[in-house]
Amino acid sequence: MFLRLVLVVGLASLGLCATYGTIQAVPDIKWDFIIVGGGTAGSVLASRLTENPNFNVLVIEAGPTNEGVAESIIPGLAPRAALSRYDWNFTTVPQQGLNGRSITLQRGHLLGGSSSVNGMFYTRGPASDYDRLASVTGDAGWSWENIQSYLEKASITDNHDVKGEFDPTVHSTKGKVAVTPPNDLNPAVDAATLQAGNELGGDFQFNLDMNSGKPLGLCVLPHLTVFQATDLLDSVRLVAVDDWPRCNAQ
Ligand SMILES: Cc1cc2nc3c(=O)[nH]c(=O)nc-3n(C[C@H](O)[C@H](O)[C@H](O)COP(=O)(O)OP(=O)(O)OC[C@H]3O[C@@H](n4cnc5c(N)ncnc54)[C@H](O)[C@@H]3O)c2cc1C
Ligand SMILES: *[C@@H]1O[C@H](CO)[C@@H](O)[C@H](O)[C@H]1NC(C)=O
Repeated sequence: MFLRLVLVVGLASLGLCATYGTIQAVPDIKWDFIIVGGGTAGSVLASRLTENPNFNVLVIEAGPTNEGVAESIIPGLAPRAALSRYDWNFTTVPQQGLNGRSITLQRGHLLGGSSSVNGMFYTRGPASDYDRLASVTGDAGWSWENIQSYLEKASITDNHDVKGEFDPTVHSTKGKVAVTPPNDLNPAVDAATLQAGNELGGDFQFNLDMNSGKPLGLCVLPHLTVFQATDLLDSVRLVAVDDWPRCNAQ
């Protein structure tokens, strides 16, 4: 694949932590791990690997840095990153369900990957999807029961009364990733919508927590969003790449 913009991030032990704009600028040292793609998965992997101070880890990202990118920093502006230099500009194959039309498919082309431009909704899949993944792969580690210890790495922090907005029994309180319940409720519209849902019943019934493993139903939306701070006005996008304490400390 032809890469127009190359951003390289070196995370080494021995206090070296830096980002480089070209491959040539990267120090000529022995890397224990080279991760291709500085998106959500690549960044978390780099963060975890560098918890071991003996590892030198290099992350190669095709897109530019996320620093100072308004479309990424200001949550409501993320859609403007579509079809820009921060997007891979993908198009789907013709969709049967869309009368044969192709549509654009946004994917982050910058450090932090799609976590730098996503909607910031904190969503977990249905328990049945994880159990099916476990059965298809033959790896019980993917089951809903067995991923619980990973889900506990995100926890809810907020300073307003969140009673009735989510089920605290399915969330942890000591995770590293901060999640806030919704801050912009519209009581009049919400009440009418939830009443309509309850009248319809079944799959439309009020669902206290869509992240419990059973996502069907109507719930308070945005159900849970990912912010770093407890106050919406102070909040910033939590990008996967921010989870690099060894890098940020430099
Ligand atoms: C517009 C949008 C809204 C979304 N909203 C939500 C939401 O509200 N809630 C939610 O939970 N999820 C949401 N998602 C989904 C979520 O962001 C993704 O599932 C997640 O970020 C994917 O992580 P990843 O590591 O698989 O890929 P990415 O985070 O996309 O990372 C891939 C990285 O690899 C880089 N790369 C690719 N090819 C190369 C190469 N050859 N060399 C070097 N680097 C390369 C890319 O530039 C990118 O940085 C949204 C996604 C998008 C695009
Ligand atoms: C996506 O399209 C925009 C606008 O044409 C362009 O500036 C950008 O470079 C494209 N992104 C990639 C990864 O090629």
